[in-house]
Formats: sequence, structure tokens, C-alpha cells
Amino acid sequence: MQPVKIGILGLGTVGCGTVTVLSRNREEIARRAGREIKIIQASARDLKKPRPCATDGIQLVADVREIVRNPEVEVVVELIGGYEPARALVLEAIEHGKHVVTANKALIAVHGNEIFAAAQKKGVMVAFEAAVAGGIPIIKTIREGLTANRIEWLAGIINGTSNFILSEMRDKGADFADVLKEAQRLGYAETDPTFDVEGVDAAHKLTILAAIAFGIPLQFDKAYVEGISRISRLDVRYAEELGYRLKLLGIARRTDGAVELRVHPTLIPERRLIANVDGAMNAVLVKGDAVGPTMFYGAGAGAEPTASAVVADLVDVVRTLTTDPNNRVPHLAFQPDALADLPILPIEDVDTSYYLRLHALDRPGVLADVTRVLADQNISIEAILQKEPHAGEDTVPVIILTQRVREKNINAAIARIEGLGSIKGKVARIRLEHLNPDWK
Ligand code: HSE
Repeated sequence: MQPVKIGILGLGTVGCGTVTVLSRNREEIARRAGREIKIIQASARDLKKPRPCATDGIQLVADVREIVRNPEVEVVVELIGGYEPARALVLEAIEHGKHVVTANKALIAVHGNEIFAAAQKKGVMVAFEAAVAGGIPIIKTIREGLTANRIEWLAGIINGTSNFILSEMRDKGADFADVLKEAQRLGYAETDPTFDVEGVDAAHKLTILAAIAFGIPLQFDKAYVEGISRISRLDVRYAEELGYRLKLLGIARRTDGAVELRVHPTLIPERRLIANVDGAMNAVLVKGDAVGPTMFYGAGAGAEPTASAVVADLVDVVRTLTTDPNNRVPHLAFQPDALADLPILPIEDVDTSYYLRLHALDRPGVLADVTRVLADQNISIEAILQKEPHAGEDTVPVIILTQRVREKNINAAIARIEGLGSIKGKVARIRLEHLNPDWK
């Protein structure tokens, strides 16, 4: 049988990883796919640049449009990243009847509904396993392996850069800014690290996971997004003293008639497996009603881990090339005409527990004032800890853990606490989730 001909847009880290994996495992991959997968063209901005992969037999082109318009190319692999020109190129490839494999989470989270509709119309596949958690086959797992389940919630460490920074802050007692510089030096964080550290990258991935878990359209614009740039090393340390680890979590959860979609720093009990995922690794915890809690762990980035997902998608596409488009696994796991119209819950209406750090003047009655404010808002305290004052300061740090409360109530309480004369500065507030296996 003729090989399936592939064109790669963007021969960077993941592109080269894909070339290497396809070449090294060519024979086994062909035995699995039923046909050989052959890269015939790849685009690169600088054709002369030395690369860490052998490109013999691949025509290198500078103009990406040569690939999306090449009638020989059956599957386009989009590895350029970002919104544009990736969106236009993917739509053009679909228009030319080509299947698409992409690692682009921003593209799928923001323009996925449009892209899938175009693909549906043309009867082509758009596969995006590499867009979420790099090498972990989490899309396939939720979409196919867990298809019997009503997914109740999922929680993931899905940004390796942030996880690396938080792990280093904990291990070295270092400040965010210093660890960020180190992460940039090691090549984990981009020169502009905003998407990674401000939670945007994690929210892109969470949006995709929520859509396939609950059968809802992609709604990145409704996700609540808060990153780690304002986390103090004090909070990392105090959390540890109380038996918690601080992680940037993406949480998607089905509540009564709505869906929570939120990315924020979160305290997790240290005994949870996911609390022990350190460094640049990723992990996703998925709770299904039949299977119970399941957890998936692996590299969330890197040339070959991401190529592992890209190649798996290529094999899937090749295996189903001749299938009637209506009998393929739907892009968002549920049939396109059977997506649910569940609203995304505004963060003010989400219930969660909280860690609060306040700085109180060291005199009688101060804590009583604070606890009265919490009691007035019907907020129950789980734990309270007063620390020794920092050298040269007239205030003492007080840490309070609350039980579950509606976010708007804690906001009201915080505003009143900050207004007390005995409390100095802002109250630091971090959400806390127990992630109990029986959480619904
Ligand atoms: N920038 C991402 C991360 C990797 O730090 O996890 C690619 O999705």
C-alpha cells in the first residue's frame, strides 16, 4: 500500500521530535497504522539553520502555504503555535480536504468550535492530543477510555513551567522572580512567560479537557484564570507547615446545572498523589462516576514526549482514513449535534475552601475581630495559625484555613477584614481543594 504523505508546518522542537520518532520507530508505526507514514514536506523559517533531526528525503520549504496547498499532502501537522497564522492555515488545509494534526492548545481552545465545524463539513479529521499535557494521552483517555462514565470533575497540573517554579520555590525557599529567571535560563519558560505563569496556557488546556469531559462547546473566554506571579514564598512555606502543597491547578467540575472552569493556585493536602507531582511534570486527575478517581502522569512538554502524542494522532488518522466521517470518534467526544448547553459558573458563585494570610497588630482582641467578620459571613474556620513577627515589623502573620464557602462571601469578608484598623495591608487569599475521592 502507498505510504500516507504528511506535511509539517514548523520544524522547531516538536517538529524535529516528530521527524525523529517517525524515523526511529518507522517499522513498528507502519505495522500499527497499516501503512507507512512519510513526511514529504516541512516548513521552516530559516532553511539553513542546523537542526537536531535528520531531514533527508523531506523537502524543506520557507512558505507554509506550499504545504497546505500541496495536492500530494494528505495530512497537515500544524506545529507553528499561536492563534494566527495557524488558524488561517488549518482552515485552508481543511478547505483543501486535508486532515490536520495539531499541538496548538491556544488555537483549539479559542478557535476550535469554528475549526471542528469546518472539518465536519469537509469530512476530515482534526486531532489534537499533543495540545494538552504533552505526552500524556489524556484526550484519548477521556474521549474513548472513559466514555462509559459521567465525568464529575477533573483537576490537572497542566503547565510544567508553573509547576517547576512552585516546586523550586518550595525546595529552595526562593522568591517567584528569582526562580522564574532560573526557569528561563534552563529553557522551561519562554522569554515572555506571561501565558505560562499567568495561567493562560493552563486555561487553554483546561478548556479543551472540559469540552470533551462534559460535551460542551469550547469556551475559553468564560474560564476563570489566575496565575502564580503573586504567590509569595511565605505562602508556600506556611502551606507546607499546615500539611499542604501549592500547585497551579486547572479544575473543571460539573455542579447542579452548570460547569466550573477555573485555573488558579491551589493548596492541596500533601498526602494526595497529585500534590507530589514536582518539577516540569504534568498530571491530570479525572473522576468518573463508574471508574472513580483516575490519575495520569507524564511529561507535559519536550520534543519527543510531545511527538509521541503527535505520532499517535497520525496513526489514528491513518487508521480511519477510509471510515465514514460520521462513524469516527467525534472531535469533542460527543456527537456534534448533541453538545450540552451548560453555563460556565462565574467564579463568585464557586464554592471552595480558602487559605488567608493577614498581618495583624500584636494586641488583644485582634483575632476576635477577624473571626467575628468570618462568623458574620457564615464562614467556618478549619485551622488558624499565628506566626512569629518578621524582624523589624510590628505585625504578626496570621494564617486562617476556612471550610467551603461561596467565593462572593469570602470576598465580602476579606474587604471587611482589610478595613479593620488592626490589620495592615492586603489579605493574601489562595483557594484550597481537598480533592477527596468522593468529591462530587
Ligand atoms: N509551556 C507549556 C508548559 C508546555 O510549560 O507546560 C507546552 O504546552
